[in-house]
Formats: sequence, structure tokens, C-alpha cells
Amino acid sequence: MSRRGFLQAGAGLLLAAGPPSSLLHAAGSNEYRIVAAPAHARLAGPDHAETGVWTYDGTVPGPLVRLRQGEPARLVVENRLTQETTVHWHGVRLPNAMDGVPGLTQPPIWSGESFVYEFTPPDAGTFWYHPHANSLEQLGRGLAGAMIVEERDPVAVDRDLLWLLADWRLRETGEIASGFGNRMEAAMSGRVGNTVTLNGHASEGEPVRAGERVRLRLINGSLARIMSLRFEGHKPVIVAIDGQPCEPYEPDGGRILFGPAMRIDVVLDMQGEPGRRYEVVDNFYDGLSYRLTQLAYDQQPPIREHPLDASLDLPRNPLSEPDLGTAERHDLTLQGGMMGGGMMAGTGGMMSGGLMQGMMGMGGGPAWAINGMSMTGDGHAGMAPALTFQRGRSVVLILRNQTAWWHPMHLHGHSMRMLSRNGTPVPHRQWQDTVLTAPKDVVEVAFVADNPGDWMLHCHVMDHQMTGMMTVLRVT
Ligand code: C2O
Ligand code: CU
Repeated sequence: MSRRGFLQAGAGLLLAAGPPSSLLHAAGSNEYRIVAAPAHARLAGPDHAETGVWTYDGTVPGPLVRLRQGEPARLVVENRLTQETTVHWHGVRLPNAMDGVPGLTQPPIWSGESFVYEFTPPDAGTFWYHPHANSLEQLGRGLAGAMIVEERDPVAVDRDLLWLLADWRLRETGEIASGFGNRMEAAMSGRVGNTVTLNGHASEGEPVRAGERVRLRLINGSLARIMSLRFEGHKPVIVAIDGQPCEPYEPDGGRILFGPAMRIDVVLDMQGEPGRRYEVVDNFYDGLSYRLTQLAYDQQPPIREHPLDASLDLPRNPLSEPDLGTAERHDLTLQGGMMGGGMMAGTGGMMSGGLMQGMMGMGGGPAWAINGMSMTGDGHAGMAPALTFQRGRSVVLILRNQTAWWHPMHLHGHSMRMLSRNGTPVPHRQWQDTVLTAPKDVVEVAFVADNPGDWMLHCHVMDHQMTGMMTVLRVT
């Protein structure tokens, strides 16, 4: 029997035994069928109003896709929305034709049609998937899911948890506020919402057990919200960023800072007291800090007296090391937006600054640019690449954020090694596919251009991408 035939037969047997399909997936299948369709969800909790959402398989977030490193996967996406869509498997170094950018790498999936994504994930780690068509609204209405590619030798923990965090702008009545693509917002922080959900609902507490060691996979699935998490009374150790293992380290002040689309894997030793609750707070925006959830300890005595002594080192993924001696160097200058601080940065009122930089964004034009060029929307056919690299070349990119706003910059199809920020070497030189730049930051990254094709590079604040902070890099 072929491998596929075997999988299907196995799935049939399990289905006959009656578990829901999510359990099938938990077993680690490499075959998925995912349906994009409208549904309803109770985001604020069981006794709050329902929200009309757009979903993968009827739930927010969508089904957890669990793949095995180095094994072929097949994901059929069926579109039952009333508009076209695509799926981008964010952070996975896959063949260009599977990257999900409409116009650039595939035709859109029209309403009623399907598309088959087939690739072999080279890297183990925490990834996610989301639409790359009408991205601001489709992600903002709920289309997102997590993808875990399993290591062959996982790190020793008691539990492996996933928190997919999403940010919604809800009205009192429960529905999603309209006004996607507001020009003023697009030229500022983007659409930051008013309700943050953890795996699809506002969380009062997440149950934990004293003494246990947990691997917690954090995904920032927001449209625009940057997060800075603190775990009261706990010391998270970062073990991977954007799916790529790093030297385990405790972040400064225990602060886990991550922008939209980024993933951080931490190991948490539950050193709190049985029966107590500990706050998990996001205080990125001045004056707008909120409690994301609590670590809610049960009454059981600690399962062990001292934290596990096992190594926190995850096996490294097969990334090529850039040769900094021979690397090409290129500047990518991020431009546009409102001047000054503004609304979400907490440095003044909404109109502080008040001036449009070069009038960008006024009159419906683009609000942002990279190296003076504004590519808007979700992706296009025939877009001239900003840079072209010979396959195998080492490349250093210097991201210069000349704006007054934060930008999480994402490159498709590659991971980038962090070299320096504002002239200071980055301590752990970790790999990332999304690099958060603060206002006026200059960040140097390096990678080997080893994946042929046309690849998007854009800000993952969706309003920024849609209004011009996007470009294409070509590897030939
Ligand atoms: Cu997660 Cu082009 O994006
Ligand atoms: Cu941006």
C-alpha cells in the first residue's frame, strides 16, 4: 500500500471509532483538509454574545496542523467564503509555488474552489498559517491557525502547550467592528483591537501544576498589536524564536517582546505555590496594560522538588550559515506614516505630530514605502523585485526604520540571522523570519538566498502591508 493509502485507511479506522477530527490531527497526520468558511464563536467567554467570524474548519483558531520534520505534507484548502483567499504557511521554508501569495506564487482560490498545498517542512518548530488575500479583513475576522512541526528529539518537558494570541476589535453587541482599512489608522499603529484571545477565547486562567516543566509556544496572531508579556513570579527561558531554536536565555526583565506574526517558544518551570494564581500581563502600550490570563495552580503538591535538570537545547534546524565575508549588503529603508508618536505609543493624543510625512497616505495613496517604492495589497503578478540574488549568495540586509512607528518585517521563504541592532551585536544571533523594528531602529540581518523564487518582504502590521510597506526579493 502507498504511504498515502495507508494514511487514509488509518484515518478511516479512527473515524469509525468516533473521535473528533481534531484528535486525528493531534496524532500527527501529514494530510489535512481545511475549509475556510464563516461560523460563530464566543470570543469573550461562554456567557457573552456570539461573534460572526471567518474560520478554518469552523473554529477560531483553526485546526492545529501538526507535521513531521522532513516528511511530505499535503494540505487541501477549500474556500467556502464568498471571496477569494489563499493560505500562507508563515515561516515555513517551502517551495515558492506553495507560498500562498496571490498573483505572485499562485492564482487566488476562488469561492467554491480548492487548492492543494504540498511541501516537506525542513525545519521543526512553531509556525502558523493565515490568508494572504484581503489579508487585513480575513485575518481580522479570524482566519488563522497554528502549525507545529515536530522535532525528531523533542526537549524533555511535562507538557507542550500552545497559546495562539489574537486581537479583535469587538463592539458591545459582540460583532466585529467594521472599518477595516481606515486610512488614519493605517498611517499610524494599524488596527489594534480591544479584546485579546488565547486559543480563541478571553482567558481567566490556564491550569498548571506545581513543579511541572512546560514548553509554551506563543504565537502573536494579531493584525497590529505588539505584545510584551510578563509572567508574574516566573522565569521564562526562551528556547526558540520564529520556529528556530536559539541558545536558551532568560530575556531582560523577564519581558517577552514580540510583534505580529512572531512566535516565541519558552520553557517555564512552574515554581509557584499550589492553589495560587499568577498574572500574565501584556504591558507593551503605555497606559493600556491588561491581564492576558493567569497561571492557575491546582491544589496538588509539586510533582518534583527542584526544577528538572534536563537540557533546554533544541536540536538545530538545517539552515545554511551566511558567509559575512563575501555577503552582498543592501539597505531597505522603511518610510512613511504619520510623524511623531501618536495614539498607541502613549506619547500624546491621536493627532500629535499631525503632519503627514511627505503627505503619504493622504488622498487614498499609499501610506508607506520601502526604498521609495510602495507595493500595496496582498501580492501582485509582475511586480519588479527590489533586489535580485544569485541562488546560494550570502546577503546582509540593513533594515532602516525611518518612521515613527514599530514594524515587524517578515521575509517569506527564508530565516534571517539577527546580527546587530543600532550598531550593537545581538547577543544570541538568533534566526527569525519576522524582525521587529522600533522607531528609528537600524537592524542588520543575514541569510543565504538559497530558496529560488519571488519572495514577499513586508511589514506584518496588516494595515501597513496593505498600504505600501511591501516589496519583493528574487532568488534566481
Ligand atoms: Cu505571515 Cu506575507 O505573511
Ligand atoms: Cu509596519
